[in-house]
Amino acid sequence: MKIEYHKSLKEYNTFGIDVTAHEFVTITSKSELKKILSQNKEKELFILSGGSNMLLTRELNELVLHIAIKGIKVTEESDTHALVSVNAGENWHNFVEYCIDQDYGGIENLSLIPGYVGSAPIQNIGAYGVELKDTFVQCEAIHIATGKEHVFSKEDCKFGYRNSIFKNEVKGEYIITNVTFRLTKTNHSLNTKYGAIENALIDKKIKNPSIKDISEAVILIRQSKLPDPKKIGNSGSFFKNPVISKSHFSLLQKKHPEMPSYIIDENQVKVPAGWLIEASGFKGKRWGEVGVHKKQALVLVNYGDAKGTDILELSKKIKAEIKQKFDINLETEVNII
Ligand code: EPU
Repeated sequence: MKIEYHKSLKEYNTFGIDVTAHEFVTITSKSELKKILSQNKEKELFILSGGSNMLLTRELNELVLHIAIKGIKVTEESDTHALVSVNAGENWHNFVEYCIDQDYGGIENLSLIPGYVGSAPIQNIGAYGVELKDTFVQCEAIHIATGKEHVFSKEDCKFGYRNSIFKNEVKGEYIITNVTFRLTKTNHSLNTKYGAIENALIDKKIKNPSIKDISEAVILIRQSKLPDPKKIGNSGSFFKNPVISKSHFSLLQKKHPEMPSYIIDENQVKVPAGWLIEASGFKGKRWGEVGVHKKQALVLVNYGDAKGTDILELSKKIKAEIKQKFDINLETEVNII
């Protein structure tokens, strides 16, 4: 375990923001993690996983712990299901690919999501009709203050839309080291109801899709809409899709009959932030090094050397416009540091 000083984090965050970590250490095992925690009780820590859901707007003076603990293993198996235990530092998409290769079903719709497995439960990652919580069994975590291990069950995690206990009651208190999923070996319950997936399968003339077919369809859809962070810095959806009251929605609908919506319950409606941002004229616009992606308005991008504060400024401008035009408060999905 080597501490590195004044390390650039450009390669460690998908926005590609070049800030410096005063002290940085890569953790490759649970024992290393416990050791570093016990040796640095007085220090402020910053936990870095895949860096795919954060916007760095300042230098990090904390001790940065890059959680890179690797390993995937099947811990229990029946004729129909497998319990797969994955360490926090595994790349999420590599894990999805492992499952597709083994024909383990349940996370194929979550193909190509950037980031590591360890942070996936924090915001209950989701895409194309599937969320992490659908296959999640438990996660192991270390309590930062005491170094003690703790297991969080699915109920403990209180998963919601891009939300969990790790963003609320126990925010910043634990480091997730391992996640267990329950995946199907037979009778996969495929989720193809999302229009774009259906269309991709029709295009390929696939009537009885395998989980690999679905994964490939999702990869095509994502590649057609979302910028590849290796080429253009971004953090996926910058904002959450807002939930508004039905009466508010009815008012807006009179003015904007084409506004898409999803019913949450009898009183609430979710509207796509991407649509609101596009309707406000931001889509595809660029200001210097920052911009709004041309194919998906929910994604803010760094064209090269943007500062985190440049992106933050743009997000504030968008928020203010949406508030003024639709009286809706957009919430950021990305963590602002
Ligand atoms: N839309 C527009 N303009 C845009 C973008 C979207 O009008 O520029 C409209 C679309 O036409 C559609 C609706 O908004 O009617 C929804 O768009 P889309 O299906 O692309 O999904 P989204 O709501 O924009 C969410 C997730 C994505 C996830 C997709 C697919 C959130 C905040 N985002 O986006 O997640 O991949 O659904 O399931 O919930 C992420 O979290 O980083 C992420 C990419």
